[in-house]
Amino acid sequence: MVFRRAIAPEKQVVQAWVQQHFSHFWASEVEVAFSRQPVALWVAQEGQQLLGFACYDCTAKAFFGPTGVLEAARGRGIGKILLVKALESLREQGYVYGIIGGVGPADYYAKAVDARLIPGSDTHHVYQNLLRG
Ligand SMILES: CC(C)(COP(=O)(O)OP(=O)(O)OC[C@H]1O[C@@H](n2cnc3c(N)ncnc32)[C@H](O)[C@@H]1OP(=O)(O)O)[C@@H](O)C(=O)NCCC(=O)NCCS
Repeated sequence: MVFRRAIAPEKQVVQAWVQQHFSHFWASEVEVAFSRQPVALWVAQEGQQLLGFACYDCTAKAFFGPTGVLEAARGRGIGKILLVKALESLREQGYVYGIIGGVGPADYYAKAVDARLIPGSDTHHVYQNLLRG
């Protein structure tokens, strides 16, 4: 398995994969990740099969996410490696804390990197008036 930072020629492939397996909202955030130099997105792959991705600095500065692992590949440690790679990328930029934006599985983040819930962030957050189309 290979873990690496995505590069520009893969933008459409990664975006289409994220749209197919997750959502068009996440595909939009992926587009922002590919506008950065270096690209603010890590991938996990086995041969030509994309297994997972993790972005940072997309919807807000110091934000981790979105991230996702192919359903059939979950539980193998892929998500955690992508998470740590992206958090290390944030640290390299000088951030001291990373924020999991719009946290889904909070227990996963608590277990993987000792993340804590920010009080009040379930009701006041950057996505609260999101246009859903
Ligand atoms: C969340 C997600 C990325 C985790 O990926 P994964 O590759 O299955 O995770 P890992 O195998 O690296 O799991 C790391 C650890 O967290 C645990 N874990 C995984 N998912 C968990 C969950 N939903 N709740 C609690 N613990 C979880 C694993 O058991 C593992 O523990 P271990 O180190 O003791 O073995 C994946 O489940 C996913 O794509 N979910 C759908 C999209 C999503 O919710 N993304 C996050 C949005 S904020």
